[in-house]
Amino acid sequence: MTAPRHFINLWSLEPTVLRLMLDDAARRKSARKGWPKAKVDADAPARDRSLAMVFEKNSTRTRFSFDAAIRQLGGAGVIATAADMQLGRGEPVEDTAMVLSRMVDAVMIRANRHADVERFAAAATVPVINGLTEASHPCQIMADLLTIEEHRGPVAGKTIAWIGDGNNVCASFIHAATLLGFNLNIACPPSYGPGVADLSRALEHGGKVSLGDDPRAAVRGADVVVTDTWVSMGDKDGDERMLALANFQVDDALMDHAAKDAVFLHCLPAHRGEEVTDAVIDGPRSLVWDEAENRIHAQKSVLAWCFGAIG
Ligand code: CP
Ligand code: NVA
Repeated sequence: MTAPRHFINLWSLEPTVLRLMLDDAARRKSARKGWPKAKVDADAPARDRSLAMVFEKNSTRTRFSFDAAIRQLGGAGVIATAADMQLGRGEPVEDTAMVLSRMVDAVMIRANRHADVERFAAAATVPVINGLTEASHPCQIMADLLTIEEHRGPVAGKTIAWIGDGNNVCASFIHAATLLGFNLNIACPPSYGPGVADLSRALEHGGKVSLGDDPRAAVRGADVVVTDTWVSMGDKDGDERMLALANFQVDDALMDHAAKDAVFLHCLPAHRGEEVTDAVIDGPRSLVWDEAENRIHAQKSVLAWCFGAIG
């Protein structure tokens, strides 16, 4: 039996495969322009396939985009919160993985602990997709890359500035920068920087990733400015974070230091007035609604890859 194609972190993908996935997402999006949202793509690459979507943490975009994605690919989905499953009463991750592997063709899981997703994948005999952990959010970055390329062309060689908390979404940007060859300027407070392991791995593999604590320096000349909430799901030190990150808000003055045609991204949900102002997120440089929609198109290429229809 061949090993299932798990989508846990971008690191495990070949750059050529990532490229094929992004191109597939763009092609599928354009092919179904104007179609009703539940209409199945002409080639239905997930026909007769099913996807379980398991959530230990809240979600709007990941939940609805994966549901739309599996339908548009011609498959069927089932959504459950871990709290409603025996998983929430302590059934082992491995046992759950083995049971679901007998019932569905792939599992997307949003988990409190990244290590649990790895355990789930190790025990599963079907593809397992990371729908966000405290360590990374690879599905989000697929949508972000799709959005950037849709509006600004190939991401290779572009400069992306990450401002704020060096969190799970930032980690996946670090992974993507290394694979796809864009410059990533990160500005974080020293106490809330990205993980050393991600940075070291990026630098070892020639990633053009820089880290500082000056938002203006990070956005200088940037084509894309990205931020995220200062307090992620599961963070317990909200008050300390609000203080440490107070000078890392993305406002129009900061955007004005970026390239003239710079765009703004945020994975959402946004905390308006904290990490971003209304003027920026609702302004002409913001692509956040396209970015949110692109979760569907990006997730479709992830599923198509997991099912062996790409790469
Ligand atoms: N961006 C994102 O993953 O959103 P949800 O938490 O709503 O899924
Ligand atoms: N960094 C945020 C992203 C939410 C989509 C969190 O983990 O809560």
